[in-house]
Amino acid sequence: MRTFYITTPIYYVNDVPHLGHAYTTIVADVIARFKRLAGYQAFFLTGTDEHGDKIAQAASAAGEDPKQYADKISAAFRETWAKLQITNDYFIRTTDEDHKRAVRLFLQKIYEGGDIYFGEYGGSYCFGCERFYTEREMVNGKCPDHQRELTFIKEKNYFFRMSKYQGWLVNYIETHPEFIRPERYKNEVLAFLREPLEDLCISRPKSRLSWGIPLPFDDNYVTYVWFDALINYISGLGYPEGEGFKKFWPVANHLIAKDILKPHGIYWPIMLRAAGIEPYQHLNVHGYWSLERGKMSKSVGKVVRPLDLTTKYGLDGFRYFLLREMTFGLDSSFGEDGLVARINSDLANDLGNLLSRTLTMIERYLNGEPPLPLPPSSPLDQQVERTAAQTKAEVYSSMEGFAFNRALEAIWNLISIANRYIDSNKPWALAKTDRRRVEEVLFHTWEVLRILGLLLYPFMPESAAKIWRQLGIKKDLATACLEEDSVWGSLTPRGSIQKGESLFPRIRAEAVSVSISEALKRETQPKGPINLEEFQRLDLRVGEVIEAEGVVGSDRLIKLRVSLGKEERTVVAGLAKTYTPTELLGKKVILVANLKPTHLMGIESQGMILAAEGHDGRLAILVPDRDVEPGAQVR
Ligand code: ME8
Ligand code: MG
Repeated sequence: MRTFYITTPIYYVNDVPHLGHAYTTIVADVIARFKRLAGYQAFFLTGTDEHGDKIAQAASAAGEDPKQYADKISAAFRETWAKLQITNDYFIRTTDEDHKRAVRLFLQKIYEGGDIYFGEYGGSYCFGCERFYTEREMVNGKCPDHQRELTFIKEKNYFFRMSKYQGWLVNYIETHPEFIRPERYKNEVLAFLREPLEDLCISRPKSRLSWGIPLPFDDNYVTYVWFDALINYISGLGYPEGEGFKKFWPVANHLIAKDILKPHGIYWPIMLRAAGIEPYQHLNVHGYWSLERGKMSKSVGKVVRPLDLTTKYGLDGFRYFLLREMTFGLDSSFGEDGLVARINSDLANDLGNLLSRTLTMIERYLNGEPPLPLPPSSPLDQQVERTAAQTKAEVYSSMEGFAFNRALEAIWNLISIANRYIDSNKPWALAKTDRRRVEEVLFHTWEVLRILGLLLYPFMPESAAKIWRQLGIKKDLATACLEEDSVWGSLTPRGSIQKGESLFPRIRAEAVSVSISEALKRETQPKGPINLEEFQRLDLRVGEVIEAEGVVGSDRLIKLRVSLGKEERTVVAGLAKTYTPTELLGKKVILVANLKPTHLMGIESQGMILAAEGHDGRLAILVPDRDVEPGAQVR
């Protein structure tokens, strides 16, 4: 069986998880789920980085002992990942006994190999980064990341002979072009390696810092936190003797943001080399999320709690947004408005409607039974089938290159082609005359949705599962196989469709409320009191929208066919500024049924649909709040 190994950074426990951590971890989850779906045995590792000055200081500021403090924050990370439906196979903590043992073994090995020496060093140290800064790296004498004054420290320590491996590393990166990707980060590392590489100070005297792993060869020192932390990627697999290490290390993919490129692109491969271990396969580096202005790093104090937004808008919309919005490798900025806009347009509108209109028609025209595979009988059918195959291929190749936004763009292209396919075939118009064609059309749309469920599963696991359930598919997506199940017409076990609640309810910018003074201002005629008899002259009925299309030449009007049970009406409604025709399809509306017919854009309108108008001029159609049959009277 093919294997795959994906890791996230292990996060510092000096603060609770934020959007940046959530992004990396969700990306790793999407990849792990994709690989499993594609038939790989995948191992997904995440965890927490718990030693060092930074943590010791945070614990003491909180008045707690470091271990107790780390236990608490590490648990918060685990809880957050559970809520975000992260499918990590293991959660490593650097305070685990197994990890500590692996670090000491690793150090001993390098020490015996002669690559660690004792010496004295003085330099400018940043407590935020836990490392010394060279003159070249400082900005106005400060650490560029934390914008804090550096502290001059001079002491005797142990050093790792990184300089010795500089030539080897440059050559390795140059002969393995995909080792560090995207390319910009490979170039950044190579640029850094053009200057002589200094040896790395890998110890801290216990007199100054005791919160760390003691060096196996000198008990007066603890291990530098980065040296300790990087080893998690192999200790988490059971290094040195574990089966997991043998199985997964050769296919190691690290995932990090650009902030920690140097330890991962330089220290870590050299550490591995010195210990006689093959380098990882790929280092995958993404950009930074910012909130409006500035970096959202916890040390600068701006924090977005991912859970707040996932409870507010749903987990899958949040996952989708992060993956769709960021081009892997580049920076992005995060805004709540952007999130809501994507949920409304891509999820509620494009995807949600494709599903709900398909289910409505299968219910209406095929008694709720999904059609069995039928061969294409028109070029449109062929186009849909071909696009599904192309989309699958594009998703495979985009995922291979960590181009998640491209994978999602390809998927959304398929969604829009499927929506257009329905619009052009108008099954509602064929229903009375050509049942065979209706079956063909609905087979094609149902089948596209089935394949969409598979392709969307890594990104939006819960919604994909709902799609399959509502389509009537009797198989668990978690056990599906991308290769086999995505074959067009493959006979996944199925029963009747299970129309459920809508997949992505549209998010309203604000509750629509019309203040009385606003309403009065808009009146053209005074509305005096009326008596009950006058009101009762109105024939108000529940109607179901069975066809909907925009009126050519008008950006305001939509032509609807509304069923009142025993009869149907054509209604021209001024809803196009707020709704797309697709959104209205299948909706139960309130119709004024005894208005004198009028003509709008040459079409006879036989009634009026009731809607409320918000402050912003957007309309909200009135709908019964439980299912009642078309034709029911409104009193
Ligand atoms: O550096 N945008 O831990 P850390 C995108 N313990 N990603 C972000 C981000 C942002 N604004 N902010 C944080 C450490 N991240 C070390 C790692 S690994 C052996 C040791 C994510 O808690 C991103 O993945 O500071 C980044 O690399 C990581 O959190 C840094 O997490
Ligand atoms: Mg950091």
